[in-house]
Amino acid sequence: MTPLSGKKILITAGPTYEPIDPVRFIGNRSSGKMGYALADQLASMGAIVTLISGPVSIQCQQKNIHLIRVETAAQMYEACCDYFTEQMDIGIYAAAVADYTPKVVSDSKIKKNDEELQLTLVKTKDILKEMGQRKKEHQVLVGFALETDEEEYHAQQKLIKKNLDFIILNSLKDVGAGFAVDTNKITILDKYNKITKFELKAKTAVAIDIIDYLIPFIHA
Ligand code: CTP
Repeated sequence: MTPLSGKKILITAGPTYEPIDPVRFIGNRSSGKMGYALADQLASMGAIVTLISGPVSIQCQQKNIHLIRVETAAQMYEACCDYFTEQMDIGIYAAAVADYTPKVVSDSKIKKNDEELQLTLVKTKDILKEMGQRKKEHQVLVGFALETDEEEYHAQQKLIKKNLDFIILNSLKDVGAGFAVDTNKITILDKYNKITKFELKAKTAVAIDIIDYLIPFIHA
């Protein structure tokens, strides 16, 4: 038995792809590695893991993970609404969700007729903020923040705005941190105003640090 045995955990991971026309989309550089490392580690410790994943080229190592594949921010939102129910104990939102999506998706391939092409983008739903509003007393909610300036200030604002227990900050200024690399350097800010900085390490080792931080937050 571990403190995670039987705990129901929802994790989001990877990027989202927002379609422009049948062949093009707006995406981002998220590899999904951090979210998948967390899912594998938690499942190996006896947790019941649901992983909602955007398009990635990696796979889960653990067989007992319930994987739900989505593509767009809207689909990820729908899946989170379906699965982040009162039965969930913990939500870890590691996905790099598109903040904007094309207002109109063309049914046919857009031809290069004009010198300029303008796309109108509309805001997507902030999934984590919505889940923060629904959060029940027994649930633990964890978010990520990827920042380039005034990193701790922005992470703190997200922690409060999204009603989180703690937030994991990655600074793109740190060499070896962020997207599409196997390492990460994180700082954790929690709702008790505690700030903990970690060394640069492999994402699999970072996953263990995050889980160690998570355990005292779990309700019996
Ligand atoms: N997030 C989410 N849904 C969105 C945008 C973000 O669930 N539409 C989640 C991410 O998974 C992450 C956290 O919110 O856990 C912070 O994401 P981030 O992109 O750093 O912040 P934003 O709230 O999008 O703010 P901004 O892009 O303006 O920095």
